[in-house]
Amino acid sequence: MTRGGAGRKLLVLAGDGIGPEIMRQAMRVIEFFDRRRVAGFEVDEGLVGGAAYDASGVPLTDETLAHALASDAVLFGAVGGPKWDALPFELRPERGILRLRKEMDLFANLRPAVVFDALAEASSLKTELVAGLDLMIVRELTGGIYFGAPRGVETLADGSRRGINTEVYSESEIERVARVAFDLARKRRGRVCEVDKANVMESGGLWREVTQRVCETDYRDVELSFMYADNCAMQLVRNPKQFDVIVTSNLFGDILSDCAAMLTGSLGMLPSASLGAPGAAGERNALYEPVHGSAPDIAGKDVANPLACILSFAMMLRYSFDMAEEAELVENAVRGALAAGVRTGDIAQPNTARVSTRAMGDAVLHELETAV
Ligand code: IPM
Ligand code: MG
Repeated sequence: MTRGGAGRKLLVLAGDGIGPEIMRQAMRVIEFFDRRRVAGFEVDEGLVGGAAYDASGVPLTDETLAHALASDAVLFGAVGGPKWDALPFELRPERGILRLRKEMDLFANLRPAVVFDALAEASSLKTELVAGLDLMIVRELTGGIYFGAPRGVETLADGSRRGINTEVYSESEIERVARVAFDLARKRRGRVCEVDKANVMESGGLWREVTQRVCETDYRDVELSFMYADNCAMQLVRNPKQFDVIVTSNLFGDILSDCAAMLTGSLGMLPSASLGAPGAAGERNALYEPVHGSAPDIAGKDVANPLACILSFAMMLRYSFDMAEEAELVENAVRGALAAGVRTGDIAQPNTARVSTRAMGDAVLHELETAV
């Protein structure tokens, strides 16, 4: 939804680890847009994850959640780190993002894996296998084994313990995320691959049935195929260009998207959008975050790659504010910085120069300056 200037309310939650340093570079892009009057945003900042726990004893306060719900979009960094690993499950930093996803009802997680030409050689796969790759994983984000009940660890009569998590999906949960995948496919190459373990899981059988029905009823123009998740993991590294849109459950999407991310050269390159259902006026809850985590091993060293975070802002422009042109401006600036040979450590070839997080931000800003 396009709105005038300061009408765009943005909540920035940088989080932990490398979150704050990559977010700083994304903020510079947002400030540039403001300064050059490309687009104005009303930006507020809040705490999430371990940072929120340190400040208030919980990984996400009710106030921050309310703030997120009242914003047009949330830009999220990363959460977690060894400092909080020993906390009880409910207080762990990860619960912060999981609660945001659940309470904002962000059921559709879009994780594009796009290989920039300049980076095709940075992939661990052969260049010709990944050059030109453009696939989209649509991961269900508020259901499945991440949230299913019963869950927990129980003590049995003999004193031994048993851990339980439950994969559970209703038809409507499958249907709504399938529709998101079919709609996206229509704007792309018209193909959806539904991924599950229907050979061993009843819920996977239901995923097949429901996606097939939705396709036959409303998306006859889209080509639907099915694949088992283990085979999909293998196919992603064997021949990733066979895929257009992949739609899958929360857990399989988590795993397969890390795998797809690496095809692009680095986990540090991948943005994501988590979307709720659109309302009557087209507005929807939305959160944008890099797929990589908080990377505590490199946090605070100014070496992290800020591009996934910057590209997440581009996705926000496209999906929350209907600003495709401005999104392309950001994406082209990233493409330009890469084409100019600027590389953070994660995407550098051996024996080539590595720049800092800040310098990568400089390079993107420089490209924007020349473009606007
Ligand atoms: C992701 C992450 C999260 C997930 C963690 C941080 C809870 O791995 O977004 O892929 O498992 O969903
Ligand atoms: Mg993950």
